[in-house]
Amino acid sequence: MIDKIKDLAEEIKTSINSIDTAGKLEEFRLKHLVKKGTIQAHFDELKTLSKELKPIAGKELNQLREFAQNAYNSLLEKFSQNQSTELDIDLTLPGKSSFIGRFHPVRQILDEMVEIFISMGFSVAEGPDIEDMYHNFDALNFPPEHPARDMQDTFFITSERGDLLLRTHTSPVQIRIMENQMAPIRTIMPGRVYRNEAISARSLAEFHQIEGLYIDKDVSFAELKGTMIVFAQKMYGFDSKFRFRPSFFPFTEPSAEMDITCFLCKGKGCRVCKYSGWLEIAGCGLVHPNVLKNCGIEPEDYSGYAFGFGIERVAMLRTGIDDIRLFYDNDIRVLKQF
Ligand code: PHE
Repeated sequence: MIDKIKDLAEEIKTSINSIDTAGKLEEFRLKHLVKKGTIQAHFDELKTLSKELKPIAGKELNQLREFAQNAYNSLLEKFSQNQSTELDIDLTLPGKSSFIGRFHPVRQILDEMVEIFISMGFSVAEGPDIEDMYHNFDALNFPPEHPARDMQDTFFITSERGDLLLRTHTSPVQIRIMENQMAPIRTIMPGRVYRNEAISARSLAEFHQIEGLYIDKDVSFAELKGTMIVFAQKMYGFDSKFRFRPSFFPFTEPSAEMDITCFLCKGKGCRVCKYSGWLEIAGCGLVHPNVLKNCGIEPEDYSGYAFGFGIERVAMLRTGIDDIRLFYDNDIRVLKQF
């Protein structure tokens, strides 16, 4: 074995002397220094040696490895310094093109939405993805038998506490803000939400929302509408049309949904807007007095509005992508267009 190591040492020394290009140096590394290389192969063989021989051979091998590695390192340094003079590369070969990384379209839209709200005076907050039943439902005035709590919509988490779930919307962050801050409050809360839904061109089980909350004295529905329209015009341009439809959420009263004219058919009616010409982009309303009370805010003194936009929906409108699943297939041909 000792002889074999000596032979290998000889071989390594001779080949080091003959290395005169970066290419040969790399060949040397691949032959001797990698995990499947000659030195490691000899280390593997140590197992078969007797107790007396093993430490002697081991020492020799360690020295050899150190020697080879040092020689490699200094040659590598030499070649990288000399790169411009040692022309063993063909500069006329076509180069390899590389991609420049960029933000995912959903992230880009999210950042843009956040910027617009910041310019309108909102601050930004975040809450946990794993929520408890109280913040996701009870504090938001969901009655105990409300269908949204149903297994079909909510991913419940098996835990000792028994009340944990993946948040189904960003509205629980409203509660966390009101519990911890004094009015007036003007905050947006972007984040990921989860619903146990069938995956289709229009919906995913995991998507993003941006929640808004404004609490002050005498806040009116007109202010809510004004804020949402200014936001939507900045986001979609001044020629887009919007409409508010009455709706219901347990945590707002009155409640509404905001629609925008469909980006694909411009309002004529198509597959994406289910032939209505309109796309729903947000839920909103005045904060329900019970919600204020649950957070220790006196509804006699304060009122407020809240809204929640689906971010993927907004991203679809802006990018023209008509199948929500395309955002998360990670197909570079799709993503590099934005
Ligand atoms: N949380 C609601 C949803 O997920 C949206 C919403 C937010 C509605 C705030 C009203 C006020 O559908």
